[in-house]
Amino acid sequence: MTIFPTERFAQMQTPFYYYDIDLLRQTLGVVAQQQQKYGYRVHFALKANANPRLLSEMRDMGLGVDCVSGQEVECALQNGFDAKKIVFAGVGKADWEIRLGLEAGIECFNVESLPELEVMNDIAQQMGKTADVALRINPNVDAHTHQYITTGLEENKFGIGLWEVESIVNAIRTRLHNINLIGIHFHIGSQITDLGAFQTLCGRVNEIQKWFEQNKIRLTVINVGGGLGIDYEHPDEKPLADFEDYFAIFNRHLELRDGQELHFELGRAIVAQCGSLITKVLYVKEGQKKKFAIVDAGMNDLIRPALYHAYHKIENISSAAEAEKYDVVGPVCESSDCFGKEAVLNKTQRGDLIAIRSAGAYGEVMSSRYNLRKIADTYFSL
Ligand code: LLP
Repeated sequence: MTIFPTERFAQMQTPFYYYDIDLLRQTLGVVAQQQQKYGYRVHFALKANANPRLLSEMRDMGLGVDCVSGQEVECALQNGFDAKKIVFAGVGKADWEIRLGLEAGIECFNVESLPELEVMNDIAQQMGKTADVALRINPNVDAHTHQYITTGLEENKFGIGLWEVESIVNAIRTRLHNINLIGIHFHIGSQITDLGAFQTLCGRVNEIQKWFEQNKIRLTVINVGGGLGIDYEHPDEKPLADFEDYFAIFNRHLELRDGQELHFELGRAIVAQCGSLITKVLYVKEGQKKKFAIVDAGMNDLIRPALYHAYHKIENISSAAEAEKYDVVGPVCESSDCFGKEAVLNKTQRGDLIAIRSAGAYGEVMSSRYNLRKIADTYFSL
């Protein structure tokens, strides 16, 4: 459970991101223990949070990194991750990004289309190198999550359709000589709380594996992506994601062949609960029908509520007075700049500190300078 040092906070300029490093370490401890138990490998999805302090904790715990841009690859290298623990995914890798990955000698490119493979082959050939790749296959599994973060359905832009796999594999065999096919990659979506979706994924991976086996292709890496969800409603009661159940599903249902490694790319489940956005109440405005708590953080600091109608628990950490309902809104000139409607907060007044919880994933990293506001500072419990 995160305990907020409100007296220390009173000296700080708001808004800021606050990271509970104890909780992060506890979470990483569970992940490391599960990795070890089954011999799996976890790459942290850097897109969820690229804060150097947090990355140093991941690195020290032995995690690898999953990157989706050249800048993320550079960030991972600058933060001391071994290139051999960096995987690079994304539907639209630019030539310079492919070159960067090849130059650094990263572990694997997760490739999403034949045109991408062809360009990668040409670049690798020019550089006198071979690219280790995993094909990102779209398994057509419904993750039952928000439509913007569902990725494994045929209608999504991601991955290679099952019907194309054979021709792509033939292209690699016959003419793409600077491509070394080492694995297959899947990612069905994010914030998945129905773990049955992962079981369905395992079944699909098993079928796909059979096809590769029949075609005498030896794969050493099976990468099942990320997506494990967290409990946004109860950050204190349930600060840890269901890691044990999650990994046990793969252990039970996914058939690995001898010498195969199972890789994961978890983002949210590792960092979401350790981060909170701390903001100060500027005004309490009484409307005819409702009260607004106007805070000094805006959608530019945390865009998830505006973009996905995402729920984040909101707490007044300065007041102990009887609770009331408020719409908690920011100062940005957009009606969607609202962190929560009818949020139940302890009676709130100007100057109170508000914690917007579970903001460690896709919070700081998605912030912008909209309205020319400044990027929020970050503070750590340790
Ligand atoms: N691997 C791939 C290929 C991905 O596309 C993603 C996330 C992950 C791994 C990590 O997924 P996670 O374990 O964090 O669910 N901004 C949205 C989430 C977008 C997720 C994009 N891909 C949000 O705030 O909910």
